[in-house]
Amino acid sequence: MAVLSLFRALHLLVVVFAIIAVAAPTPILVRINDDPSPNDPAVQEHLRKQAELIETERHRGQDWEFRATLSPIAQQAEEIVAAIRQYEINHFWRKAGGYGLEENERFAGMMFAKAKPLIPSTKLWDIVSRMPKGSLLHAHPSALLGFERVFNIILETEGMVITSSQDVSTEVSAQNASISFAHVNNITAVAQQVNASIHSPEYIPGTLVPVTLAADAFPGGREGFINFLMSKVTVSPEEAVRHDLGVDAIWRDFQKCFDPAGSALTYEPVMRKFYQYLFEGFVDDGISWAEFRSGGSAKLVPEGQETANPDLEFWIRVMLDELQKFQKTEKGSKFWGIKLIWSDARSLDRPTIIDHMKKAIERKQHFPDIFGGYDLVAQEDLGRPLSDLAPELIWFQNETAALNLTMPFFFHAGETLGDGNSTDDNLFDAVLLGTRRIGHGFSLYKHPLLMDMINEKKIMIEVCPISNEVLRLNTDIMHHPMPAMVSHGVAVAISNDDPAILGQDGPGLSYDFYETIQGFDDVGLGGLGAFAHNSIRWSNFEDQNQDDWVRDINLGATGTGIKAKRLQEWQTQWEAYCQWIVDEYSDWNATIGIQ
Ligand SMILES: *[C@@H]1O[C@H](CO)[C@@H](O)[C@H](O)[C@H]1NC(C)=O
Ligand SMILES: *[C@@H]1O[C@H](CO)[C@@H](O)[C@H](O)[C@H]1NC(C)=O
Ligand SMILES: *[C@@H]1O[C@H](CO)[C@@H](O)[C@H](O)[C@H]1NC(C)=O
Ligand SMILES: *[C@@H]1O[C@H](CO)[C@@H](O)[C@H](O)[C@H]1NC(C)=O
Ligand SMILES: *[C@@H]1O[C@H](CO)[C@@H](O)[C@H](O)[C@H]1NC(C)=O
Ligand SMILES: *[C@@H]1O[C@H](CO)[C@@H](O)[C@H](O)[C@H]1NC(C)=O
Ligand SMILES: *[C@@H]1O[C@H](CO)[C@@H](O)[C@H](O)[C@H]1NC(C)=O
Ligand SMILES: [Zn+2]
Repeated sequence: MAVLSLFRALHLLVVVFAIIAVAAPTPILVRINDDPSPNDPAVQEHLRKQAELIETERHRGQDWEFRATLSPIAQQAEEIVAAIRQYEINHFWRKAGGYGLEENERFAGMMFAKAKPLIPSTKLWDIVSRMPKGSLLHAHPSALLGFERVFNIILETEGMVITSSQDVSTEVSAQNASISFAHVNNITAVAQQVNASIHSPEYIPGTLVPVTLAADAFPGGREGFINFLMSKVTVSPEEAVRHDLGVDAIWRDFQKCFDPAGSALTYEPVMRKFYQYLFEGFVDDGISWAEFRSGGSAKLVPEGQETANPDLEFWIRVMLDELQKFQKTEKGSKFWGIKLIWSDARSLDRPTIIDHMKKAIERKQHFPDIFGGYDLVAQEDLGRPLSDLAPELIWFQNETAALNLTMPFFFHAGETLGDGNSTDDNLFDAVLLGTRRIGHGFSLYKHPLLMDMINEKKIMIEVCPISNEVLRLNTDIMHHPMPAMVSHGVAVAISNDDPAILGQDGPGLSYDFYETIQGFDDVGLGGLGAFAHNSIRWSNFEDQNQDDWVRDINLGATGTGIKAKRLQEWQTQWEAYCQWIVDEYSDWNATIGIQ
């Protein structure tokens, strides 16, 4: 009660003062002829200081050095691209939907799954797809080549069969069924035993069906069949935008894709074609070098056989054979090659990981130029944290050091929304264990001390913007922390992670590059160039001890080794590309009819 009456008394007092204030005559303090003016020296001084401050801060950005040394042609190209980007933001992307037509709403930076069908009709896409992109440093090979291509290869390959854990006659059963592929030698015999294909309610679970038979009998024919298969190995655009369902849900869907995807890639002739299209896809997209996170225990069924070759090195020889064949072609002569980062599932128990690490060491001894590092994969939030894996990891370091083998770490870390839980803390382990790059590092921007250490130790972050979005860390490109990292001086390069599953469809980097330049005002062509340049600076071209590795990163194109040579080669491609932009687009205003 006492409090209430005190409040009322105060209220009354305020009202009284207000009345007095209104009643009292106010002296006129404004002088004549003193309107706010943009030409006022104080205003000019403020604007000058603001521009200066922005410029000073830019110097801290990791991309600053590259951008400050752009050639005159590159600067011209950057201006043209900036104008085209802005034009498309205003005239292509900004479109209101309206009541009942919300799905028609368009805006720059909208969710990738919704933007994707529109992107290829932009000029910015045209420009980005031609860019020389340097190296693809973070990718999982079975999720790289678009699956429509893979399934068409399977349909064209003699003897391929499909089997399903249940018939797929209803929507629910089609969603629930596990499918897999195999090769048989006598396809006629298999075909004779089939009386109901997988789409029929009479299908007996587990029965082998020739893929061509299954495809032709499928409702909607081959197209219907491929659409069904696609649903088993891709995250659909509808699922991709369901951020309300959270990270664990999308990871369950995502992880489910790998079994059918893996089984589609177990027959040698299919794999050979897979690599041919993959390597061509890289060069077509301006990628010159690729490093794969790859489980080394894949087994392959040799051509004309039904069971896998137990030799763990068979698939490596097949891959290298295709690589060498490709590099002998005109297109392939531009491709520098590939490296494998041996990767184990982070959920495995200690004895199994140690067993796999021993296999990794053997493979490194047999293929010293192909295996270049070690990592752990699959959902970081639910897997064992690096601190729990420390005994295995430190054992591995000891063992490789004793054998004089260079197998540094390239850890996935901080691929999480957490801050201060064990997933986020993986970043600390990664830095302390001497990782040379970090996959994702999505939560890194919350750690100023770690960012300082990462800059000092020359660790680079492999940023995968579309993967992070579809796996529900950022709702869209605008909510990605990449600009925070870059402006703190952290080196980043752009990667695509699992493009065949997550929606980019092909092995190229163009969609991830497009999202980056389109989404962020401060990236620009020069920023994209800086990230491509970083991808080569941090490529693992050859075995090097830590000192030599850091030395070559620091020297960049002025060094004497293989890295410097490739940076110089890229620089030549980059200048030619900038010249192409200038030639092609300097009068773009005229072509779209504006002055
Ligand atoms: C889904 O698949 C599992 C495993 O094959 C099976 O046990 C279950 O009965 C299936 N559920 C439905 C609704 O088909
Ligand atoms: C394949 O199977 C069919 C039907 O069982 C049989 O007639 C044919 O001889 C077999 N072919 C071979 C090469 O074994
Ligand atoms: C499939 O055909 C075999 C004989 O070829 C027959 O014994 C069997 O009953 C048939 N199964 C179905 C489900 O029609
Ligand atoms: C690694 O080697 C050091 C000495 O070189 C030894 O003290 C340590 O116990 C070893 N750790 C493991 C996990 O093997
Ligand atoms: C270790 O390997 C490197 C090449 O990777 C070689 O130059 C060096 O001589 C080797 N050192 C020993 C002690 O074998
Ligand atoms: C860390 O936090 C994020 C955000 O809440 C969560 O998604 C993730 O599962 C957490 N990780 C662990 C190991 O609890
Ligand atoms: C194109 O038009 C924009 C907007 O009118 C203008 O700012 C820009 O300078 C023009 N660029 C070229 C290359 O003509
Ligand atoms: Zn990954």
